[in-house]
Amino acid sequence: MKTPSPKDRIIFALDVSTIKEAEELVRLLKDHVGMFKIGLQLFVGEGPKVIDAVLSQSSQTKVFLDMKFHDIPETVRGALKSANMHGVEFVTVHCDEGKGLLKTAVESTGGKTNILGVTVLTSLSKDDLVDIGIGPELRDPEKLVLHRARIAKAAGCYGIVCSGEEVKAVKKEFGDSLVVVTPGIRLAGDKIKNDDQKRIVTPYQAIYDGADYIVVGRPIRNAPDPARAADAIAKEIEQALKDRKKS
Ligand code: C5P
Repeated sequence: MKTPSPKDRIIFALDVSTIKEAEELVRLLKDHVGMFKIGLQLFVGEGPKVIDAVLSQSSQTKVFLDMKFHDIPETVRGALKSANMHGVEFVTVHCDEGKGLLKTAVESTGGKTNILGVTVLTSLSKDDLVDIGIGPELRDPEKLVLHRARIAKAAGCYGIVCSGEEVKAVKKEFGDSLVVVTPGIRLAGDKIKNDDQKRIVTPYQAIYDGADYIVVGRPIRNAPDPARAADAIAKEIEQALKDRKKS
């Protein structure tokens, strides 16, 4: 992996419903973040044409297609064939269907798109893991993330998605052989109304602990000046990278 700059490590979540809103945000932020994440809200609202609309904003624009696929391997293979045609950087597939689905996903990209395995959503706490029936030996989110990261690695995934609380452990075991993308990012002292994210860390902490990229939505989107908020996050990342090198 070519070492990304601080700005390029910011993946902005385009959690809006229309192409018009997405284009406005891309115009505003294309020189301040490294990648735009198209997730379910925008994709279901607008369909695949939204990918081309975002990509056409500039030749530098990169797209992360966050579909979090979770289906039988043949269905996911078909969906990924379509994704391949659009030239996206990352696509997500859930790890909890096991190695077979992840392997099929990796194979069906033909090396054109990087598959990220989603380990444990950052909106889930330890209590939620008990609720959904995860056995006692893996109820600790860090243990479950590591377990699923091993499956992703064995399947040939480019990287994984996990919270900042587990990044250190993942990087300790896998180093640079697994790229880590971390959502659940919150600015120090910033409270978000009705926040659904539970395993959260600051941009500094995520990068200091080893995350390669961070996913940021509301802390940039809700800021009075989103471009300025993104620049402040890039500064935080720059400092974290310096401190990480020293440690
Ligand atoms: O920063 P904020 O909480 O608004 O970011 C929300 C985004 O993070 C959503 O697009 C959601 O899909 C994404 N996310 C993710 N992986 C997770 C949890 C959230 O990509 N494990």
